[in-house]
Amino acid sequence: METLPLQLSNAIDRELAPLSPDKLREACFELTQRYRQGLAIETQLHRQAYIAARLPATYGAIRQVFRRTEPFLNSIQSLLDLGAGTGSLAWAAADALPHLQRITLFEKDVELLRLGQHLTQNNLDPLQLAWCRDDITQAEIFPSHDAVVLSYVLNELSSKEQVHLLERAYQATDQLLILLEPGTPQGFGNLLNARNLLLKLGAYSVAPCPHLAPCPLAPAFKEGKDWCHFSVRIPRGKYHRRAKEGALPYEDEKYTYLVISPQPVPLPKGRIIKAPLRKTGHVILDLCTEKGDLKRVISSKSDGEVYTKARDSEWGDVWNEETKKK
Ligand SMILES: C[S@@+](CC[C@H](N)C(=O)[O-])C[C@H]1O[C@@H](n2cnc3c(N)ncnc32)[C@H](O)[C@@H]1O
Repeated sequence: METLPLQLSNAIDRELAPLSPDKLREACFELTQRYRQGLAIETQLHRQAYIAARLPATYGAIRQVFRRTEPFLNSIQSLLDLGAGTGSLAWAAADALPHLQRITLFEKDVELLRLGQHLTQNNLDPLQLAWCRDDITQAEIFPSHDAVVLSYVLNELSSKEQVHLLERAYQATDQLLILLEPGTPQGFGNLLNARNLLLKLGAYSVAPCPHLAPCPLAPAFKEGKDWCHFSVRIPRGKYHRRAKEGALPYEDEKYTYLVISPQPVPLPKGRIIKAPLRKTGHVILDLCTEKGDLKRVISSKSDGEVYTKARDSEWGDVWNEETKKK
């Protein structure tokens, strides 16, 4: 479970307090419908619905990606957030990056930017936040930062804009370029194209792919059968629960991600790319491997420690053990 920092959930609650539950329910519904139709945020109510329903989800996904890339975060002092929205990244990074000093946030919607500024104000000291109102598809160059992040942004852009932006984002990356998208076929398709482009530009894989080979899920994806994605559980905040009347107090956010680097990094033997199937006496794991293929392994009690590791492993974890092929 990725829980929001208390200061952030309090700041969101204060922001939403003047709205009636009916109004917020209507706004959350409308925002979901708009996203389904490929439409972006337009009104102040959509923005309020965003911080009630979507900010916690993108925060949770970013926070989990930081957990999965922890060994590479120690030397990150500066972050560039392209399409920052209301600043989920700043909150997740403040928690996860021990040596982070400053974040530059680009956002084109001035009201979202103001809302993000308002939520973060006096809450993330001593981090320095520089908010810039700008259209990231028009930039010819971005200032270099240790890490550059595009979180849930590519799906709002055309294919041509995505290529232009990714090339410039990669040029500005000193250590890590982090891309997150909704865990839908469309989100995965965007990242598959981004991966192909970035590897051609000389980038190295950091996560989730434990290899530089073509994505082994691409053929199944092209047939509409499968795609690489992960899941993070997040609690629903007070106002989101009210807006969702009767629904569970948490939700599972499906996301897909890609972290690459201009420098090679050590890669694991494999990555667990589906929820482990825990059966009586054995566990089945679906892996993407260092060889660039897909492998289903089965670990039974007779495997001893390896079985214990398999039983305790989660969807998205790395897998470095030798296991029998199923
Ligand atoms: C779905 S929101 C994601 C916000 C934030 N990154 C997060 O993870 O919560 C997409 C954001 O990208 C911004 N955006 C889309 N196109 C943009 C552009 N051309 N220039 C700057 N920002 C853009 C939108 O205004 C919106 O705030």
